[in-house]
Amino acid sequence: MPVTIKSAREIELMKEAGRILEIVHDELGKALHPGMTTLDIDRLGEEIIRSYGCEPSFLNYNGYPASICVSVNDEVVHGIPSAKRVLKEGDIVGLDAGVIYKGYHSDAARTHGIGEISKEAKDLIQVTRECFFEGIKFAKEGNHLFEISSAIGRYAEERGYGVVRDLCGHGIGTKLHEAPEIPNYEMNRKGMKLRKGMTLAIEPMINIGGCAVNWLDDDWTVVTRDGSLSAHYENTVLITEDEPILLTLSK
Ligand code: MF3
Ligand code: CO
Repeated sequence: MPVTIKSAREIELMKEAGRILEIVHDELGKALHPGMTTLDIDRLGEEIIRSYGCEPSFLNYNGYPASICVSVNDEVVHGIPSAKRVLKEGDIVGLDAGVIYKGYHSDAARTHGIGEISKEAKDLIQVTRECFFEGIKFAKEGNHLFEISSAIGRYAEERGYGVVRDLCGHGIGTKLHEAPEIPNYEMNRKGMKLRKGMTLAIEPMINIGGCAVNWLDDDWTVVTRDGSLSAHYENTVLITEDEPILLTLSK
């Protein structure tokens, strides 16, 4: 599948998909508390998504059984919500969500602390967010895709963190995952030239320990191999001739 360039009309729809997803994340972030189950988060997220006339884009995607990916502590991404998994003070929880609005997808992730969390956990969450902002410094027409990748990877590794290499960011539009793949680590190749109208989901996944991950027997949940904490941060981004427009983050 080639990379798609979105028309003005498509960009309007993607902006709306992004605007709604930002609200979903804001609401979920406010609702988090110790004692909540990861299934509670999924139920609430799905309800908010549908209340805006959208579909949850992850539900049944390649068989994924929920609307929100909820990944706790050493879980990197794609945790499956469960009534048995109860959040407790000190946990960190990655929430990854996507909505479909009139056929167009948005995709974004945030990592939150539950109550008081350790300094190490706070730093991890902050560095992961900063990785995204380092990457998008290069997200501009005429630059090359892997300048984004290299900036993300370098920023994390210089600070001693492990950068997950087995999962990447991606193009997004009428499908959740479109070309191109966007690695989060330093690349020697330059990658494709960026053009205005491309929409990209850029999503660093960063570990306190090593970069290695395992897949659990549920075939979805990705965990750090060394059991260290992991954080995830993602926005859907529109490439322009100038600064990128963050479709899932307005403030
Ligand atoms: N942001 C995640 C990704 O791009 C969304 C996963 S969707 C799932 O991989 F349905 F596969 F869980
Ligand atoms: Co994504």
